[in-house]
Amino acid sequence: MSVAKPLPHDSGPLHVSGRARYIDDVPLPANTLHLAFGLATVAHGEIASMDLSAVRAAPGVVAVWTAEDLPFANDVSPSVHDEPMLATGTVHYVGQPVFLVIAESHLQARKAARLGRIDYRERPAILTVDQALAADSRFEDGPVIWEKGAAEAAIAAAPHVIEGRFDMGGQEHFYLEGQAAFALPAEGGVVVQSSTQHPTEIQHKVAEALGLSMNAVRVECRRMGGGFGGKESQGNALAVSCGLVAHLTGRPAKMRYDRDDDMVITGKRHDFRIEYRAGVDETGRILGISFRHLVRCGWSQDLSLPVADRAMLHADNAYLLENVRIESHRLKTNTQSATAYRGFGGPQGMLGIERAMDHIAHELGLDPLALRRANYYAEAPGASPPDPQSISTTKKQTTPYHMEVEDFILHAITDRLEAASDFAARKAAVATWNAGNAILKKGIALTPVKFGISFTLTHLNQAGALVHVYQDGSIHLNHGGTEMGQGLFRKVAQVAASSFGVDIATVAITATDTGKVPNTSATAASSGSDLNGMAVKAACDTIRGRMAEFLAREHQTIPAKVHFENGRVFVGGDEIGFAEAVARCYEGRVSLSSTGFYATPKVSWDRKAGRGRAFYYFAYGAAVSEVVIDTLTGENRILRTDILHDCGASLNPAIDIGQIEGGFVQGAGWLTTEELVWDDRGRLRTHAPSTYKIPACSDRPRIFNVTLWDGENREETIYRSKAVGEPPFMHGISVFSALGAACAACGPHFPDLQAPATAEAVLAAVKRARGAA
Ligand code: MTE
Ligand code: MOS
Repeated sequence: MSVAKPLPHDSGPLHVSGRARYIDDVPLPANTLHLAFGLATVAHGEIASMDLSAVRAAPGVVAVWTAEDLPFANDVSPSVHDEPMLATGTVHYVGQPVFLVIAESHLQARKAARLGRIDYRERPAILTVDQALAADSRFEDGPVIWEKGAAEAAIAAAPHVIEGRFDMGGQEHFYLEGQAAFALPAEGGVVVQSSTQHPTEIQHKVAEALGLSMNAVRVECRRMGGGFGGKESQGNALAVSCGLVAHLTGRPAKMRYDRDDDMVITGKRHDFRIEYRAGVDETGRILGISFRHLVRCGWSQDLSLPVADRAMLHADNAYLLENVRIESHRLKTNTQSATAYRGFGGPQGMLGIERAMDHIAHELGLDPLALRRANYYAEAPGASPPDPQSISTTKKQTTPYHMEVEDFILHAITDRLEAASDFAARKAAVATWNAGNAILKKGIALTPVKFGISFTLTHLNQAGALVHVYQDGSIHLNHGGTEMGQGLFRKVAQVAASSFGVDIATVAITATDTGKVPNTSATAASSGSDLNGMAVKAACDTIRGRMAEFLAREHQTIPAKVHFENGRVFVGGDEIGFAEAVARCYEGRVSLSSTGFYATPKVSWDRKAGRGRAFYYFAYGAAVSEVVIDTLTGENRILRTDILHDCGASLNPAIDIGQIEGGFVQGAGWLTTEELVWDDRGRLRTHAPSTYKIPACSDRPRIFNVTLWDGENREETIYRSKAVGEPPFMHGISVFSALGAACAACGPHFPDLQAPATAEAVLAAVKRARGAA
């Protein structure tokens, strides 16, 4: 079988040789127009006057459009129609597109876009969480509150109360391929190529903007050079602009953001402030806990509500909380509209309780890992030998949103990781090191991850596929998912190859295309292979069933006696090659093409009430990181990381390990070097790699061991695998926790390390640990 094999990424040779085609590599027709946005230069203000004569007069400029020139919908929002593509009267952040330049070349468009003269009547800008709270500037009428048990009463009655407040920064996606789109005029509509995780949404928004129905717009995406959530909605403005220009001028149109523009215009991960209050007993068992999430959403709603929900949904992480209250404020600010980013709020919610764990352990003098384990959910029956520490499983254990946790395997994962990473001995060695070294301090931490898999918007949990078997026995398939480097196409091809019992080389997947598979969901929530793998399998099974029936009839046997294996088809006692079997079916007038469809079972979720089965299942894992800090400069390094991660029965161990390594490094980057800085006028000062530091190769752990857990999904997913795209991101929390421990080794006080733990933040935490003001 093709599944479960560590086959390399199908585009690997193309990636390394530079032959993989991205939007910017598409050969352009000679008369293509190039587009660029003119951007707002104030964070909040009314447009008093706009003089675009210099833009119009600039070399190569064909036309300049403002909101008034748009014939139909001026909206690129993925949610509530609150995001005009070009500003209408008021601007809401520095970098908001105000006018569109259409020129003969990319450079001419960009140069001309700088020549606009716009006067604003400036309004007070709301930039920070504190300003937004003071002005009650928010989405929704008030905070969203979910409760289980009676948190306040339990905290009040607890022997110890630990409380804290903690800021964590946002994160720039820094996909290597920036946002880009290209549109060709077509009879009665347009064909759009877009670097997007969500071709159906691009189709929908372009159709709205052109005043056409969706069947007049076809959207294609062969691959993205990374998306990471930043191409769920942020590509809409480019695709709509290109679609409009192509449709209205009859000339092809292309738009791509330069890196600085990309960083200034598009939304990023939400930064959060989390306030926590925990009531605990002597052993560290949490009796009651409350969280207050302050979420900086930016100027428009985009995907902020479901992102903030997912943060709430991960406020428990791996811990059984009987009395818990989570309050979430979705604050509206004059900054980029924060958007999806790997984990979709989950990392922020999870970091809240992991931080609380470290704080509780510090205040009560408990071992942080023992404290974590004492609060774990109980192990799922059969996952490992019963753990005497875990709570009786006779009572149903539920999350703060009242979903039963039935598949918990973190006791067993933690046991195995502790042993494999030699955790106890290394922890003792770190203590010895710290006792003998005044300047370099080390820290080590183990943190768990439990991440929910499913879209919380229930209807998105569906997928379609289209499979053709050609008369020479080759297979061509399309599905609704998009390839962004995560290896989805390879995994789905493996599913098809396994279904027909043929070699992977027999299967070709071409660009995702709204004309082939309609009404797709974004490739997001890590569900790409779960959903599209199942849809492809359904289509393959249909064709295989038809073939089996025909061949069985020919050989006077029954379909159950027809098997597809190793490129052969076994029919009763006979054996024929797959290609020959296909040719015979074709001559026998058997349909060799089929669609397939899948909808995730069991999920049902009421987001207003905060109740229900939000997820089909959970993915689990744990990480141990050891770090060293320089207490004179705050500089720090990851010395070693060990990860044990649960992908169920992996569809492709090589790709899954790649996802775990990449996710971890990205998560560690979020919590260490990646810092977004806005000045007091709302200008993003970190808008290029010169000022915004993503991890480099040299930032990876010196020793890096990634192992796959050898279980299978207890739910019936595609070949019992588990989603892997996002969960490993949160293993980066182990680095933050270890850095906190290293700071704590400098003095008696809780260091209160803030995220990202830049050198400055580490230095400040060291000072706090020592008790300096
Ligand atoms: N891996 C690579 N190489 N590039 C990406 O853009 N995006 C991540 C993750 N892994 C991403 C990636 C995000 S945010 C998600 S939701 C999943 O991949 C999406 O793909 P999947 O559902 O097929 O796992
Ligand atoms: Mo991923 S943030 O769900 O695109």
